[in-house]
Amino acid sequence: MTISQIKIHHFRNIDYAELSLSHHFNYIIGDNGSGKTSLLEAIYMLGHGRAFRHIQSNRIIQHEQSELVLFSQIKSINQQSRTIGLAKNRNNDNKIKIDGDDGYRLTDLAKLLPIQLITPEGFDLLTGGPKYRRSFIDWGCFHHYPEFVYLWNNLKRLLKQRNALLKQCDNYNQLLPWDKELTPIAEKISQIRANYSHNIFPEIIHTCQDFLPEYQINCQFYQGWEHSIEYSEILRKQYERDKFINYTSVGPHKADIRLRVDNIPVEDLLSRGQLKLLMCALRLSQGEYYSKQNSQPCVYLIDDFASELDNTKRELLAKRLKLANSQVFITAVSQDQITHMINENDKIFHIKSGIIS
Ligand SMILES: Nc1ncnc2c1ncn2[C@@H]1O[C@H](COP(=O)(O)OP(=O)(O)OP(=O)(O)O)[C@@H](O)[C@H]1O
Ligand SMILES: [Mg+2]
Repeated sequence: MTISQIKIHHFRNIDYAELSLSHHFNYIIGDNGSGKTSLLEAIYMLGHGRAFRHIQSNRIIQHEQSELVLFSQIKSINQQSRTIGLAKNRNNDNKIKIDGDDGYRLTDLAKLLPIQLITPEGFDLLTGGPKYRRSFIDWGCFHHYPEFVYLWNNLKRLLKQRNALLKQCDNYNQLLPWDKELTPIAEKISQIRANYSHNIFPEIIHTCQDFLPEYQINCQFYQGWEHSIEYSEILRKQYERDKFINYTSVGPHKADIRLRVDNIPVEDLLSRGQLKLLMCALRLSQGEYYSKQNSQPCVYLIDDFASELDNTKRELLAKRLKLANSQVFITAVSQDQITHMINENDKIFHIKSGIIS
């Protein structure tokens, strides 16, 4: 899908904007504090129901306003047009409309508008805790395996109940009925994640050969418990410890991806610029794999394109993005940072104090 048009009401410092977009590259140029990231957040919100910097709608809705409203027209590769509307109030209630009809959920938005986000804060994917890498893998599982959301919601519910029960029980047998239900779900989730990892890791390694040819990156999926032991078995083994901390310490909620060069974690070895390229390699590989499998492009949002990268690396990234043949939104503080990338079908927007021209 690509976005043809977007209307934004009361979103951070953007009071109102109505933009016709390029299906290729859209550049957003403006000084610090002008509203570039806010515009990307508005687009991100259309595909996720929340902004990427703050989950609280109070921070995103324009000061003095009671709600924000977003509207967009999107187009599939076969030119089929659809509309998405999203309103959010200060109680964080969402009203979602697709093609004018109510009753949709956030997952419906996410399915319709797959987005890959690259921001300066996105280093968390490599340097932050496992939850960032789980969310990377789960993006793919969500888009490629329809049963994944249902399984994941069930797992969360069962784990919550199990943790509550850990506080009250006095022997393992009381947990058995939960563990019997939990085990097949945990195994299915791990299987889906392992399958997706198996498909996406070669793509990532291939992209890294282009972006970081001086390193041989190794990717490994960790399912959240030792591979050689059955989940039911590990739950039983961990009982005393889990009881002590009132928390289920092993399972798919502890999964991770490990990225290493010669057994050294990438975050301990690579420079900031190299980490940014690796993050881009992960996001681009994921987006391209999605496009190949679904014959639909992803939307890429790239905040502060130039930061951390030297000229050669900027060109490398630009070239790869062009090849992805997708809709891309790029922000920059000055036009010189992107002049070399501009093609005839692209659009440039200038933004000043939330007003876009
Ligand atoms: N809820 C809100 N209502 C009104 N204005 C807001 C709100 N939240 C943030 N702002 C203002 O929006 C402005 C734009 O912020 P934004 O992060 O989009 O700027 P930017 O162009 O990305 O800047 P930079 O180049 O520094 O990254 C900020 O100056 C901020 O004060
Ligand atoms: Mg910004």
